[in-house]
Amino acid sequence: MTSQTTRARRPRPNGVVLRAAAIAGAGLLAGGCDGPQSMLNPAGTEAERVAELFKVMLVGAVLIWAAVIGLAVYAAVVRPGAHPERHASALIVCGGALVPTVILGALLTYGLQLMPSLRAESDGLRVTVTGEQFWWRVRYTTPDGAEVTAANELRLPAGARVELLLDSPEVIHSLWVPAIAGKMDMVPGRTTRLVLEPTRPGLYRGVCAEFCGPSHALMAFAVEVMEPARFDEWLRREAGPATADAPEAGRRLFLAHGCGACHTVRGTEANGVVGPDLTRIGSRHTIAAGILENTQENRERFIAEPDAVKPGVRMPGFAMLPAPDVAAIASWLGDLR
Ligand code: CUA
Repeated sequence: MTSQTTRARRPRPNGVVLRAAAIAGAGLLAGGCDGPQSMLNPAGTEAERVAELFKVMLVGAVLIWAAVIGLAVYAAVVRPGAHPERHASALIVCGGALVPTVILGALLTYGLQLMPSLRAESDGLRVTVTGEQFWWRVRYTTPDGAEVTAANELRLPAGARVELLLDSPEVIHSLWVPAIAGKMDMVPGRTTRLVLEPTRPGLYRGVCAEFCGPSHALMAFAVEVMEPARFDEWLRREAGPATADAPEAGRRLFLAHGCGACHTVRGTEANGVVGPDLTRIGSRHTIAAGILENTQENRERFIAEPDAVKPGVRMPGFAMLPAPDVAAIASWLGDLR
């Protein structure tokens, strides 16, 4: 290839690469706006405010960026060279003090006036969520005072304000459901509070937003927002003992191998409180705290080698059990609804 053809062709591939990068970048940006874990696709009152705040901040940032670039272009291209001292002083006072004070003051006022409505009281239902290593203990307190224990999943009625009381026995975690509300830390020795007001039924995803150990990134949960009547029916059912149509073999093996020392399955002798309550694990969307789909294969995998799925998990592996025993336990658990 001669140097002439090289020179003639060089801009072309660069242009193609730039265009491809721009399209890919735009695609990634647009992809981030959707999905069950996006704060830009809000399904809750607080997330709507946060999305609104984001848009206002974005417009503000773009205007400031345009003004700064405009000034730089003016100084470098339109009117290069020295400016009179009077102009320079005016620029420092306006651009360095006046304009930033006005803009930051306006944004602060706007941000602060959003806060009181986000801290308003709940409508009655209260849920205590405890951050464990690396899963979520969930306890619903109904308006009449009854307590229902579950794990790794949050179900909420649409249109109601639900108060979450957050704590943690060991290290700091942080609960965040981006599509519904902003995050709140879970601090050992304290109880923090977050009010969720989902507006749209659907399935969303929450995460742990504070580094808490080797499986911090593997600590998520499904959030199902339900029509209020369906939610009431679900909670009533959730409060009762487990029901399963599966053969008794799974239940017998679960108890015989000591699983009940750490897990509770209401309606059986299993009443441990170290690990997640498994009373209706078959009805949950995921297992292992939002990490695996709730399938027979994945339940078997987690029972045999929990540490391979979730490094640092407290549960010991049961790979030494005969495979049919693991399968029977996994199948019985899958049937607990
Ligand atoms: Cu729990 Cu990060």
